[in-house]
Amino acid sequence: MNVPNRESNNGKLAICPGSFDPITLGHLDIIRRAALMFDRVIVAVLVNPGKNPSFTAEERIDMIRRVVEGISNVEVECFDGLLADYTRQKNAQVIVRGLRAVTDFEYEFQMALANRKMNENIDTVFLTTSAEYMYLSSSMVKSIGCFGGDIADFVPTCICREIAERLCLPQYRK
Ligand code: PNS
Repeated sequence: MNVPNRESNNGKLAICPGSFDPITLGHLDIIRRAALMFDRVIVAVLVNPGKNPSFTAEERIDMIRRVVEGISNVEVECFDGLLADYTRQKNAQVIVRGLRAVTDFEYEFQMALANRKMNENIDTVFLTTSAEYMYLSSSMVKSIGCFGGDIADFVPTCICREIAERLCLPQYRK
């Protein structure tokens, strides 16, 4: 029986796109699993999420780089504009997105269809979130952190203090 491994993927490049404002343990779980499935993974940080981000693109990229430091086939970049254009420019074959619940599905499905319409060479692969991260989102981290709540169980340890300190500033109380 042929057991699939990373070498048999014909050099597949996957893009993990997102706002990552900030990266959570749920994101990291998806990135790690994508790194096992594909030869190269680019974590692509959207520069202007249109949501007045709490962390600048540089800060988000820097935090992700530190978090994925030990994963040799993962790179971190930023992108602006359409994801479909970015995937074409990178010659990527796959977009990886995590699915937490049915509520995520409609938006993700629409996005996958639109991206494929704009770039017929791209497929979206959905990874089911690990059960312990079902409820987790960047917004939830921000809502807890801005009131001084403990976010240690939600974000990678090496960036936890930095995120907590930033969110506690009065302007981040939402
Ligand atoms: O982490 P998020 O905010 O859920 O990520 C959403 C993201 C960045 C993947 C999505 O908003 C995106 O791809 N934006 C880029 C603009 C674009 O391509 N829009 C059309 C998508 S169909």
